[in-house]
Amino acid sequence: LNDGPLKGRHILVTSGPTHEPIDPVRYIANRSSGTQGTAIARALLGLGARVTFVTGPADVVAPMGVDLVKVQTAEQMLDAVQAAQDVDVGIFAAAVADWRIANASDQKIKKDGKGFPVLEFSENPDILATVCASKTRPALVVGFAAETQNVVENATAKRKRKGCDWIVANDVSPSTGIMGGSENDVVLITAEGSEDWPRMGKDQVAQRLAEKIAVALG
Ligand code: C5P
Repeated sequence: LNDGPLKGRHILVTSGPTHEPIDPVRYIANRSSGTQGTAIARALLGLGARVTFVTGPADVVAPMGVDLVKVQTAEQMLDAVQAAQDVDVGIFAAAVADWRIANASDQKIKKDGKGFPVLEFSENPDILATVCASKTRPALVVGFAAETQNVVENATAKRKRKGCDWIVANDVSPSTGIMGGSENDVVLITAEGSEDWPRMGKDQVAQRLAEKIAVALG
């Protein structure tokens, strides 16, 4: 582990999308690439933290040096998050599917010429809200808010609703190029208000966030 202001700290980071199975060969997912979460894990390692990195099937490879836990579904991600012990900071950058398929099939669904499959959904656990409400809540919990409209307003409400300390909010409208891109344009929302960060690389957003965490922990 590196020396640095986060030496001795254990930080949990969730990242990437989740895949929710329809049958053994099909799933629903979202466009998260895992780039921002991965950059955050790397920046935290650079400042000396021990990082538990719980990731769904992302496009990017996990940084060397993390305690890596690979998962597919939201339920598996929750299990992995709850298995992490003695976490000082939790950063929830994963784009967790809100719903899973309630009537997922054990076998590949076949075309039978008689009609189309009908998918039923059920709600996934909210990992961030669950952690925030738990007895073992980390001292600092950072959530993300991917919005396509009223970013600050929605994210401010989300911070309260989920019970986290900070929210990193961004506009993921397709026109911004943020989802899957290398840059991000974020607003950091805390109990004190909101801080508009200039558009910069996701690695720079990660570095700034990691440094801010180090300051907050003292
Ligand atoms: O409600 P929304 O999905 O916009 O909230 C985003 C934040 O909540 C992110 O930090 C995300 O990682 C987290 N989240 C979660 N579990 C869910 C849904 C969202 O941890 N099921």
